[in-house]
Amino acid sequence: MKISDSLCWSFVWLLAVGTSAAQAAGNPKAGQAIASQCAACHGVKGLATLPSAPNLAGQSLQYLDEQLKLYRSGKRQNETMVLMAKPLTDQQIEDLAAWYNSIPIQIAP
Ligand code: HEC
Repeated sequence: MKISDSLCWSFVWLLAVGTSAAQAAGNPKAGQAIASQCAACHGVKGLATLPSAPNLAGQSLQYLDEQLKLYRSGKRQNETMVLMAKPLTDQQIEDLAAWYNSIPIQIAP
């Protein structure tokens, strides 16, 4: 009885972890829609149009995700980006990261 109970709980735990991991994955299409707010500086395809803004196309998921969360919390300070990141939810940040990460780039020597 005890063993089957604990087996049952570990199954529930695995299900819960599996589901939250699936939800955490960003959706590039949704991110592209949100990124219309970012295009004035970072470009429609993630290549910056403002000289002081960085390119985001092809950047790693983890880096984009971390930087947006750092701006949102104010740990990374930049007036514009803190303002832009403040209203974003975790899901929107994942979506934006997935979008910019999905843009193919080519680097020539
Ligand atoms: C008004 C111009 C402007 C807008 C709009 C803007 N950004 Fe930025 N963004 C910047 C600038 C300038 C920087 C560099 C800031 C710094 O030095 O930290 C930056 C930095 C970033 C970085 C860090 C990149 C790196 O290489 O470290 C990310 C990620 C980013 N922006 C994402 C976004 C997203 C997503 C949006 C839309 C929700 C957005 N930005 C909207 C100007 C803008």
